[in-house]
Amino acid sequence: MTMGEKANFHGRKILLGVTGGISVYKSAELVREFIRRGAEVSVVMTENATRFITPLTMESLSRNPVGLDMFSLTDERTMGHIDRAKWADLFIVAPATANYLAKAACGIADDLLTTISLVARCPVAVAPAMNTNMWSHPTVQDNIRTLEERGVKIIPPGEGELACGDKGKGRLADLDIIIKAAQELLYGACDMSGLSVLVTAGPTRESMDPVRFISNPSSGKMGYAIAEAARGRGAVVTLISGPTSLKDPDGIETIRVVTAEEMLAAARDHIEANQWLIMTAAVADYRPVKRSTRKTKKDGKKKITLEMESNPDILMELATAKGDRLYVGFAAESESLEDNARKKLLSKGLDLIVANDITERDSGFEKDENRATLLGREGYVERFPLMSKLELAHRILDHSSVLWRAAAKNG
Ligand code: CTP
Repeated sequence: MTMGEKANFHGRKILLGVTGGISVYKSAELVREFIRRGAEVSVVMTENATRFITPLTMESLSRNPVGLDMFSLTDERTMGHIDRAKWADLFIVAPATANYLAKAACGIADDLLTTISLVARCPVAVAPAMNTNMWSHPTVQDNIRTLEERGVKIIPPGEGELACGDKGKGRLADLDIIIKAAQELLYGACDMSGLSVLVTAGPTRESMDPVRFISNPSSGKMGYAIAEAARGRGAVVTLISGPTSLKDPDGIETIRVVTAEEMLAAARDHIEANQWLIMTAAVADYRPVKRSTRKTKKDGKKKITLEMESNPDILMELATAKGDRLYVGFAAESESLEDNARKKLLSKGLDLIVANDITERDSGFEKDENRATLLGREGYVERFPLMSKLELAHRILDHSSVLWRAAAKNG
């Protein structure tokens, strides 16, 4: 499997600029590949690009309106040029003609694509494609250098027979190379490639009878975000999920469980094969002592007492399997956030703990955003502002990777 084949863009927004060259037909294939890997794609075409391929093709493949004209009222109403540029996590121009490169290098903004090029602040890549004499022309090479110096990633053209019959450098880079470059720009150089990561997510559910259970409001979003972020960075991910309304993420083996005991059994089965354990699940600490197979009748009772017994602590149970593995836990706290989280970090033998204040209204359970504090064993503390769960997932993985690499170096 090539790197491009493994790349995954789930939840990432890619803005694809398409300029007018014979290799435009490959951009259509590129859109399909990005979509297949879970990205949301928005295409902007220059007028010349529309001579090679219709906007309808791009619109159908990308499932989003294609941007064509700066001054189109409908385009600007659906997604204005500024919004389109700000929307993107990654902006790629493929194919990029010599004309586009020249304009981008000089800051000319005379159409939608070149204007967006000045607005975009996300990572930018260009994949030039042109006749080989044009490519080697000093003006084009100067423009390439200028763009590169400004931080634009150049995906160099490949060599071979060109559409015009000439041989040499100039054909659009292979799609696999473009996808790999996109992957690196979005996630860094696939820094978790070769790692196996076990993630738990969601609540557990502890039944009293067939229609009643004890649980908590965990949606599973944080754990799923971590699983998807790790997969996007090249890791092989196994997700053990309690009951959630989220669908199984693509490319991740997802094991569905209901109770804490089932989650422990699944974690035990998988811990040996994994190098990291990230325990985001909100495990129910107690379960009803009696689990009736029949629905308990009210029988006119005004009060009932439910006897509960403790569930196993999954992290504690897996402590003996830790060895060189990296363990990351979460702490849900309503007071003394950092003190309580640190106690859990130490008592559960973790490398890292992510502390959440569950009393905050704008973050945590069921929300798409989270505000968290990361604590490490040697007194490390990082307080993150409110951010999307996917972004937080990447920050947690960033720090975990640093610890993992440091341990490998010292070990
Ligand atoms: N955890 C676990 N098994 C449990 C309970 C929690 O493995 N039975 C894990 C969670 O997945 C989390 C960490 O332990 O990574 C801390 O969970 P949290 O609910 O914050 O704390 P508890 O250990 O349950 O302690 P308390 O409820 O007293 O705060």
